[in-house]
Amino acid sequence: MKRLTSAELRAEQALTLTTPRRAYGWLAQALFRGLDLVYGRRRTLSKFKVLELIARVPYQAWEQVAYVAITHTSTFPDFARRVFDRVRESRLQQDNEQWHLLILEELIDKRGIREGFFWYWLVPQAIAFLYYQIVWLLYVARPARSYQLNADFEDHAEHEYMEFVREHPELEAEPFESMFRADYGPFGSLADVFRQIGYDERVHKEESLARLANARFA
Ligand SMILES: [Fe+2]
Ligand SMILES: [Fe+2]
Repeated sequence: MKRLTSAELRAEQALTLTTPRRAYGWLAQALFRGLDLVYGRRRTLSKFKVLELIARVPYQAWEQVAYVAITHTSTFPDFARRVFDRVRESRLQQDNEQWHLLILEELIDKRGIREGFFWYWLVPQAIAFLYYQIVWLLYVARPARSYQLNADFEDHAEHEYMEFVREHPELEAEPFESMFRADYGPFGSLADVFRQIGYDERVHKEESLARLANARFA
């Protein structure tokens, strides 16, 4: 993923905040409402952690379906090659979501935020499991719908992170001291880390929208 400078990140945050959210489909709306009900409307590190746990799921589902496709298309090497390229792209995005999750987990731990096993481990795992089945089925039956759902999810995440930075100006003065600094990037403040995460979500959204366009015209 591309790492931006502090000035670029501020410009991207301003762009997100002046861009309306996508018109979310009913599945995405049900998911966001459900998360608001369970975890509250307030943007918190713990709620972002739950979002990140779910965010990896579509990439895992697509990767799994693609592997099945490759196995059964060995007589069409061109097709298998294209599918494999998709697998690699999915894996990169999964890794990127994994960094987001690790950074959040570390911050939650450092701040001594207490999270119960039931609401912050069991319930998110159950949501992720259900979401996996939905994305998997959609991808097999109607790939375009699966990309659309992910674009909605990523758009929501992008806006939530950029809003979070706006709501918390104190993050500008907090340094990014992390075990993952070498991997994720040497950002000057936590505000910039969250702006970068928000920007990553926008890139994920754009990739899903590009796939959506291909799926429609295929
Ligand atoms: Fe993420
Ligand atoms: Fe994402």
